[in-house]
Amino acid sequence: MGITVCPVTPDFAAEVGDVDLSKPLSVADLAAIREAFWKYAVLVFPQQHLDQEQQLAFAAHFGPIENERTLDPKATPSRFSGAFSDISNLSADGKIWGESSRQRMYKAGNRLWHTDSSFKRLPSICSLLYAETVAPIGGHTEFADQRAAYDALPAATKKKLQGLVVEHWIATSRRRNGFYEFTEEEQKRLPPVPQVLVRTIPQSGRKSLFVASHAGRIWGMPDAEGRALIDELIAHVTQRQFVYTHRWRPHELVMWDNRCTMHRGTEFDDLRWVRDMRRVTVSDVANSCEQEGVPLPA
Ligand code: OGA
Ligand code: MN
Repeated sequence: MGITVCPVTPDFAAEVGDVDLSKPLSVADLAAIREAFWKYAVLVFPQQHLDQEQQLAFAAHFGPIENERTLDPKATPSRFSGAFSDISNLSADGKIWGESSRQRMYKAGNRLWHTDSSFKRLPSICSLLYAETVAPIGGHTEFADQRAAYDALPAATKKKLQGLVVEHWIATSRRRNGFYEFTEEEQKRLPPVPQVLVRTIPQSGRKSLFVASHAGRIWGMPDAEGRALIDELIAHVTQRQFVYTHRWRPHELVMWDNRCTMHRGTEFDDLRWVRDMRRVTVSDVANSCEQEGVPLPA
């Protein structure tokens, strides 16, 4: 028997059952998962028991794994190395972080609507987040469908947005959240990068907005006008009808398409409860401008 795909919302989130991601997948199951992923953009896999190797092996089916840390491990040690982002409230020693820890200040940025790694020249195709331990109250993850939000725009707006290029920069989202303390090394490694504002997802042919809290300036527009347009678009995309709120259960894997969704973590009492999650991020093969055929200056 093959996998089951059960819609959680009509066309944005689905739950995948009758599959054990800790084992190698059959060709048919993998094809069915891919097909569901391009259709929905958020897939939930309940009741999985994955170690790091198994999570990586499943993620690798979708493309090259990102292996570069955003924060300098010298300034902010992590429980994980290389391919894993620690999405917990634990410090490197496995204990709940301190109120003013650098990790906590930095990760407060995950409460803003964002898409992972749009601030990298090669942005991300998808993220795969696995929950070991969840918070008893709060600590949900919300997802917004940037394809449906694009579809709902008036034709004149679609025309105006086509071909626009936006600068994405990790410092833009972090400053908004009060985090200014990037080291020199981090600043050098993560300069602002261009991304298109409207993109087409090759596997589905659907058009999508590509905005996020990392987005700052729009090329060819005064800064204030660009900022206002980005804020308006984020407000548009995150209207309730485009949002799915995921309430985590332990031992669950959720994967989402970073090219056409935004997400954010919701509040929980992070100085009290353990919320232990780890993320693998799959990189895209080209910058979004390149993919859309928008020329970039050298
Ligand atoms: C992430 C993320 C938000 C959350 O894993 O990339 O932003 O719910 N997570 O913690
Ligand atoms: Mn994220």
